[in-house]
Amino acid sequence: MDRFDWVLTEQDLLTASAYTPDPVELSDLQMILSGAYAPLDGFMSRADCEAIERTGRLAKDGVWPPITLTVPEGVLDPGAKALLLTDQEGAPVAAVQVAEQWPTGRGGAIRVAGPVRAYGDGGHLPFRRYRLSAPEARQRLGSVLGDGTSGRAQGRVLGFYADRPLHRPQLAQLLHTARQLTAQIVLLVPVADPGPGGLEQHALLRCVAAAAERLPDPLIVALPLHRRDDEIVDGALRARVAEAYGITHLLSTADTIAGRGPRVLVPRALAYDTRDGQWRDRNDVTARFARLPLTSEEISELLDEGETLPEWHTPPAVARELARARPPRQRRGLVLFFTGLSGSGKSTVAHAVAETLRETGERTITLLDGDVVRRELSKGLGFTKTDRDLNIRRIGWVAAEAARHGGIAICCPIAPYHEARATARTMARTAGADFVLVHVSTPIEVCEQRDRKGLYAKARAGLITGMTGVDDPYEVPADAEITIDTSRLTVDEAAGLVLDYLAEHNWIMQVAG
Ligand code: ADX
Repeated sequence: MDRFDWVLTEQDLLTASAYTPDPVELSDLQMILSGAYAPLDGFMSRADCEAIERTGRLAKDGVWPPITLTVPEGVLDPGAKALLLTDQEGAPVAAVQVAEQWPTGRGGAIRVAGPVRAYGDGGHLPFRRYRLSAPEARQRLGSVLGDGTSGRAQGRVLGFYADRPLHRPQLAQLLHTARQLTAQIVLLVPVADPGPGGLEQHALLRCVAAAAERLPDPLIVALPLHRRDDEIVDGALRARVAEAYGITHLLSTADTIAGRGPRVLVPRALAYDTRDGQWRDRNDVTARFARLPLTSEEISELLDEGETLPEWHTPPAVARELARARPPRQRRGLVLFFTGLSGSGKSTVAHAVAETLRETGERTITLLDGDVVRRELSKGLGFTKTDRDLNIRRIGWVAAEAARHGGIAICCPIAPYHEARATARTMARTAGADFVLVHVSTPIEVCEQRDRKGLYAKARAGLITGMTGVDDPYEVPADAEITIDTSRLTVDEAAGLVLDYLAEHNWIMQVAG
């Protein structure tokens, strides 16, 4: 791994340009700053990036994901020595000493390598007490880890990645393993993405903290660690991070091929023994008396329906936190997102759905109609891909905020691009809400026949360009939960289908037809 010495002066930083990296880069930055990626102390050199691209690994340092920073053209002068990185609120977080910059070959973007140092006050984040750097964590574990000089055998630290709430089987497993090893427990909570259970990061931390009450003085560490798609790379990175935090043994089912670092222990399959209420090795419990841990799907289903998680499986304090974070669907926020061509009937059907729900009064409704949004929220934006994407981003953002507070946000823009729709879905999920995509698939011929606004006629006459479906793309969604074609249905029928779907899946009560 290439390293560069730090030579930047205060003066270099005063004249440096500033840039806000994307969320993945920002979380990598936080990881570097907290010593979690040690010995990596900055963004990787060109040689390291290329070695990883070619072979998936670094010659001396084994498997690594590329840890990189890419800035758009024009952010950095060719001779720039420093770059300030700011968080999403624009507050400075770190300075990069630009050791190398080179074109990525994509759209003029530049890749930047070099060491980073914290800069600014680090911002304000909830649960500061859990956001420990690697040295802070090691210091807390000091009495366990020893200083390496006393001649005593080094103590053991058992680590576990809590990507999802801990229920009794995981707690039993941890307790058992920690006792066997006489180890201190460290719970590493990845908070960069919504966890596999779809929990928003603060809710996950609250759930983990509630479960931790059942463990002997565990250390909880929140890590802005992104999940990597490649499981081997993800496992290797997790093992390294665990090592940086002083963990000597890692309880994990993930594939880990890092030769060094913590010893990986594979958890055993446990079952609940109804005879004495103990969790033990599945093979040691007679089938007749064994209850298996609930699957994530079973847990989600119980939460969706508003059922309390059973006490034999989940400590009540954890169940309470989970119920708060994942209220039953009838109280959980929902983004109902209509997409389709202009004139397809999205807006009409969306209004009909909104009217019915306003009449029943069971949910609060925020309607983000395409044309209204373009007046109130996106005034000045045009119909280029960039502008349309920005428009959908704004709609997705506002919808997610409404849904965060338990409301139903109904959106009906054209939203012609898959990626922008996927972003809206992620925003809703990150806010702890659900997302339902409705594709209004009315054929273009019908939309064109309707042509209420005369736009198709103008587009055909060449008076306007970039009209969706005429000379601008519409990417047909492959991930729509509902598809409706208004050339074959009345407005009431189409709205009825959407309402039935919502009722069937428990977001609303059955609407009387
Ligand atoms: S989106 O692509 O960004 O989702 P949005 O739904 O906000 O589009 O706006 C679409 C509305 O703008 C259409 O209903 C139509 O009235 C109007 N419009 C004006 N020019 C265009 C165009 N070139 N393509 C599509 N719609 C257009």
